Amino acid sequence: MSAERNDQLTGHEYDGIREYDNPTPGWWHMIFFASIVFSAFYVLFWHFSPISWTIEDKWAAAKTRENAILFGTVGNLEGTEKDILRMKADPKFMAVGKSLFEGTCAQCHAVDGGGMPGTGVNLTDDHYKNAKKIEDLFLVITNGANAGAMPAQSQRFSQNERVLLAAYAASLRGTKPAAPKAPEGEVIPPWPTGPAPDASGAPLTPTSSGK
Ligand code: HEC
Repeated sequence: MSAERNDQLTGHEYDGIREYDNPTPGWWHMIFFASIVFSAFYVLFWHFSPISWTIEDKWAAAKTRENAILFGTVGNLEGTEKDILRMKADPKFMAVGKSLFEGTCAQCHAVDGGGMPGTGVNLTDDHYKNAKKIEDLFLVITNGANAGAMPAQSQRFSQNERVLLAAYAASLRGTKPAAPKAPEGEVIPPWPTGPAPDASGAPLTPTSSGK
């Protein structure tokens, strides 16, 4: 170390303290300038480049892959009576619907759909505020209702997931929740009967009676 040291005094002196002239080493400067150059590329790439990605992009891509696995056999679903009844008749999909419901909807509608004071309505009775037919459940879930009191779910869930959630919400009708909230809205006709549940796990052939 002492061999490389340049024991030249700088020539100034304060209170008897004198300073050696030891410049920062070359490798230190290299790292310093390299980090400046790197930062320019960093800012250009992450803040201005169209090819960089965000955490939201990665989430969306992961979601797409996950949906492809989950819905691989059924393809793209529409918010139609046919597709909602098809999901509702499939116990495997209803199990997925239940977990989506518990993760997002139960906070307002209660875990058994019985509703909660001051927020989500009872989904188990025959009274509906925003639905006349089963497809309306998909529309309420997608677009929300009552100025956001029921939040729109179109950003959070893919279309297939919203069809599944509509089917799960429909399946809650007629069940007996622990603490049912008083009915709200109008009594509507029963849901149309859908295809029979398919225990084999094969893709279902919808046999709905139509509208
Ligand atoms: C922040 C609380 C909240 C969350 C979360 C929420 N809801 Fe709601 N939901 C409501 C409220 C409040 C209403 C009643 C809106 C109104 O007054 O018209 C409602 C209405 C509904 C309706 C229509 C019922 C009717 O009587 O017309 C359905 C179906 C529904 N929600 C399903 C869901 C599903 C499925 C989820 C989860 C993806 C969910 N909700 C999440 C608060 C919530």
